[in-house]
Amino acid sequence: MKANVYMGPYKLEVKDKPKPKVERPTDVVLKITATCICGSDLHLYHGLIAPDLPGQTLGHENVGVVDEVGSAVQFVKKGDRVVVPFNISCGACQFCNSGLWSMCDNANPYNPKGPGAAFGYAKLLGGYDGGQAEYLRVPWADTMCLKIPDNVRDDQAVLLADIFPTGFFGCDIAGVKPGHVVVVGGCGPVGLMAQMSALLRGAARVYATDRVPARLELAKKIGAVPINVDKEDPVKRILSDTDGWGADACVEAVGYEATGKGVMAPGPKVEAKPLVVLETLMKVAKKGAVIGMPGLFAPTPADPEGRVSFPLGAAFTKELGFRMGQCNVKNYNRYLMQAIADKRVDPSIVITHREPLEKAPQLYEQFDKREGGIVKVLLKP
Ligand SMILES: NC(=O)c1ccc[n+]([C@@H]2O[C@H](COP(=O)([O-])OP(=O)(O)OC[C@H]3O[C@@H](n4cnc5c(N)ncnc54)[C@H](O)[C@@H]3O)[C@@H](O)[C@H]2O)c1
Ligand SMILES: [Zn+2]
Ligand SMILES: [Zn+2]
Repeated sequence: MKANVYMGPYKLEVKDKPKPKVERPTDVVLKITATCICGSDLHLYHGLIAPDLPGQTLGHENVGVVDEVGSAVQFVKKGDRVVVPFNISCGACQFCNSGLWSMCDNANPYNPKGPGAAFGYAKLLGGYDGGQAEYLRVPWADTMCLKIPDNVRDDQAVLLADIFPTGFFGCDIAGVKPGHVVVVGGCGPVGLMAQMSALLRGAARVYATDRVPARLELAKKIGAVPINVDKEDPVKRILSDTDGWGADACVEAVGYEATGKGVMAPGPKVEAKPLVVLETLMKVAKKGAVIGMPGLFAPTPADPEGRVSFPLGAAFTKELGFRMGQCNVKNYNRYLMQAIADKRVDPSIVITHREPLEKAPQLYEQFDKREGGIVKVLLKP
């Protein structure tokens, strides 16, 4: 089968690989019908995560039709159209049982007491191949597979594998409530989904920052107030709009590759400003507010503990809260599926490119450069 394989920093190849099989009785194999490229894939693409990644098939946002079913799978049938969360979880351990699916204790054989597992992240997150391929092996299928109703399309359901739940999670951990003024740092797919989620949760006003015009345009379409950080100081604007009080809740949806310009990846484009968005949010947050941080802050090969210099005193003075981590997709995907099925929201507004899998390397490059109005890419094997 064809698969999009990571070969090294900035190097991908669509290659032939053996078709995955049922390895354990609780597995299914999906024939992939839609798979997306994520901002998280860019950290991998830049060579910042997982030194053993070469050879791995990427792709953790997957929808497919069940093609092969293990003998112990009870509730998923051949032919079911399903979406699977990016986090791989057993459904039975103490962490799964408390809704911390991303911390599953059984899914990562290489680091049992560490973080859980995900598709396409090499041994760091369990060593599972991803779904930017024709087929994908899904472990613990009864826990993982969420069936897609007939009135929800693949290009909507695929966003429930990660970014819509992740945006919603950002709002959830930030405590977004009806009537709140919310600031979302970043208008990438996750930021846009956080803005949509904040409005779904009843926020009165949602500010959205970025510097890419096409992305700010989408934020506006979603109903947020866009602020181009290269043209306007978001701190001045938001404090002035709120009588100096600031926002009730904030979501950091950019992560450690936040920039003035360029990226912090190896290569010539280095201008790392990992905390620039977080520090902006700390300035616009109302006293006592919580900043939800779905944006990724991971250790890097250069900095194995992920240390950053952080204005802790400023946070203490305002009694700010910070919550972060992987989204526990299974806590949200079923409900957001219902919201899509009932036509309350349509997250597919963020998909700007629908292309064959073969074009993955070129689309990664384009997505990385944020060229040609690209926001979210759906690949069709
Ligand atoms: N926690 C989770 O479970 C989870 C899940 C998915 C993605 N993520 C992470 O969320 C982050 C965003 O993902 P994405 O798919 O939207 O990525 P993306 O790279 O497409 O979007 C990032 C956006 O941030 C903007 N940005 C950069 N610097 C900025 C600044 N100084 N001010 C305002 N905006 C700025 C960029 O222009 C871009 O639009 C990534 O770090 C990704 O790894 C986390
Ligand atoms: Zn993703
Ligand atoms: Zn578990």
